[in-house]
Amino acid sequence: MNTSAANPGELAGRHLVLGMTGGIACYKIAELTRLLTKAGATVQVVMTEAATQFITPVTMQALSGRPVYTSQWDGRVPNNMAHIDLSRGADAVVIAPASTDFLAKLAHGFADDLLSTLCVARDCPLLVVPAMNRQMWNHPATQRNVAQLRADGVETLGPDSGPQACGEVGDGRMLEPEAVYESIVSFFASKVLAGRKLLITAGPTFEPLDPVRGITNRSSGKMGFALARAAQQAGGDVHLVAGPVALQTPWGVYREDVQTAQQMYDAVMRAAPDADVFIGVAAVADWRVDHVAGHKIKKTAGQRMPTFTFVENPDILASVAAMPNPPFCVGFAAESDDLEVHGEEKRARKKVPLLIGNLGPLTFGRDDNEVVLFEADGRTPLPRAAKQALAQTLVAEIARRLPDPSIIS
Ligand code: CTP
Repeated sequence: MNTSAANPGELAGRHLVLGMTGGIACYKIAELTRLLTKAGATVQVVMTEAATQFITPVTMQALSGRPVYTSQWDGRVPNNMAHIDLSRGADAVVIAPASTDFLAKLAHGFADDLLSTLCVARDCPLLVVPAMNRQMWNHPATQRNVAQLRADGVETLGPDSGPQACGEVGDGRMLEPEAVYESIVSFFASKVLAGRKLLITAGPTFEPLDPVRGITNRSSGKMGFALARAAQQAGGDVHLVAGPVALQTPWGVYREDVQTAQQMYDAVMRAAPDADVFIGVAAVADWRVDHVAGHKIKKTAGQRMPTFTFVENPDILASVAAMPNPPFCVGFAAESDDLEVHGEEKRARKKVPLLIGNLGPLTFGRDDNEVVLFEADGRTPLPRAAKQALAQTLVAEIARRLPDPSIIS
């Protein structure tokens, strides 16, 4: 599972009007359409005449699975009011790419083609994804228009900065399709963690034996990364401390990579005083060797096998929970047996208000999971779900247990 690409079902039931205007970034909208439809959204593409110069309606129809509209005089809409009918029932209109000219039209309420008329006639949110040359983006008129659109409640996604199709470098290039996709999913997520700072650990740790060998475990990091993504989409400010994993950083999440349990402990203890919530999802090694060999341990014929002595690693979760003014602490426990007994015992031992238990090794690396919430006053089982969907449920469960920020203790 890639935690940053489209997850099937994530946008199920959402209906989007995807408006394309003229610009070389039109080619990126093919990929955006694929991501949106893979996630279950229905995508109604509407193109300006200029957009059709860059990519054909045939391509967009094949990818969206729906007829594409380009003209307000299109007779396929029975009442001949495409500008009204196409946006009714839509959850949002997304203009990508949004050209300089189209932003100007929107800011002034012009309605001289199907897409601009549809935007004025819509009764749902409008998101624009600007894409243009840096001089065009920085032009005072464009900046005035964008400020006006924001004041009118239009959501602006991007633009990005970097090399441009014209060969220049600067602000104005369109966000990559995955980033636009993530922003759209975020737009629909309920902002239950707005204003909250979350610190999350994920993945395994790696405890070296010598410069080339070490001890690790089978944690993939998927659950922790899924939680980080869901928390960010719920409006949280997320700091993710990750052990060695091969996963893409979720959009908008600040990631700090570590290897050992001690490094993870140090990173967490530095950030914890600032956090409102700490979620320990990492499978932290309980022990490390007391002396890491400075050179590769050689196998010499006839010699005795190497032996190692271990020392205990700090317990990160218990240490955060023992801080004088701790964040709301959430633990995870992977148990191979007797979850009911070990889950509650572990929660009480680590002195955390919430512990999420799962039947451990069976879930490592999988894309779905089934968990039980352990709290002082009882347990709540949650149904089996994909890790990304489960992450959204857990974010909602955690959010409703947080103290009201307006109550100062
Ligand atoms: N944890 C931690 N630091 C450690 C060990 C565990 O922060 N040194 C956290 C994990 O991130 C998780 C919770 O504690 O949130 C439970 O981890 P688990 O490995 O199940 O607990 P242990 O205390 O190591 O117990 P066990 O004897 O079952 O390994």
